[in-house]
Amino acid sequence: MNKKYVLILGASSSIGCELIRQLSDEETIILAHYYSEKERLEDLQVDSKGRLVLIQADLSHEPGIESLIELVTKECRCPNKIVFLAAPRLYLTRFKDLTREDFKRQIDMPLNTAFSILNRYLPEMASDKYGKIVFMLSSYTLGKPPSAMAHYVTAKYALLGLMKALACEYAGKNICINAVSPSMIETDFLSDIPEKIVELTAQQHPRKRNGQPADVAPVIKFLLSDDASYLTGVNIPVTGGI
Ligand SMILES: NC(=O)c1ccc[n+]([C@@H]2O[C@H](COP(=O)([O-])OP(=O)(O)OC[C@H]3O[C@@H](n4cnc5c(N)ncnc54)[C@H](OP(=O)(O)O)[C@@H]3O)[C@@H](O)[C@H]2O)c1
Repeated sequence: MNKKYVLILGASSSIGCELIRQLSDEETIILAHYYSEKERLEDLQVDSKGRLVLIQADLSHEPGIESLIELVTKECRCPNKIVFLAAPRLYLTRFKDLTREDFKRQIDMPLNTAFSILNRYLPEMASDKYGKIVFMLSSYTLGKPPSAMAHYVTAKYALLGLMKALACEYAGKNICINAVSPSMIETDFLSDIPEKIVELTAQQHPRKRNGQPADVAPVIKFLLSDDASYLTGVNIPVTGGI
């Protein structure tokens, strides 16, 4: 059994690109999903030591998720490791202004993606008796969440529930299912958040700075490695001491 196919949903994110740089070696085949930012991944393809297979899909609807599964299955029977990074862009909305559609959009995309992909591949991982899954959550699942983010916070808590439930169900199959929960990381994800809030968050941080993708990627890399074989069902804070 090989242990080399890594599927990254939202590989084109800032954190995904940093993870690819850190995972790239001759043994690893990375199935790198993107939605609109193909160029970012093409740039990485040039420097990649191993194979980097680019897969486009809109994960906001079921046919997009199904086409991704079809393309992944053409490359390999089943990925050995899966990282869930893709999420709709974050924006602040007071609950009274939040529409049912916005609420659903924020929750459905990451949750349906995780459900369909894991429903397809976890049984195969279980018969291989090997698998590593990492969910990207948020420090808002660890302490008091901020206001005006009910949609985002609910989506991340739903993924936390799924992660915990599946970690229990698959612990006996040598499948490790974990999460990382960063505080604010300076990426494109924050482009709809007022700059003042981003600056203020940095000022109030114990390190006097927000996180960077390079602060998060090594933790995901560790969870994907065999050094983390006795870890499952945990949600690791990557918060620089908040
Ligand atoms: N930045 C932070 O402060 C922070 C803190 C905690 C957790 N996180 C989490 O970290 C993860 C990555 O975020 P990031 O900060 O690196 O942000 P980012 O660069 O904005 O990444 C968002 C990712 O989601 C993908 N995506 C968006 N809409 C999609 C759709 N309809 N279908 C398929 N894919 C779609 C994007 O694809 P394209 O780029 O190809 O369009 C991109 O890969 C997210 O889960 C986020 O919640 C971020």
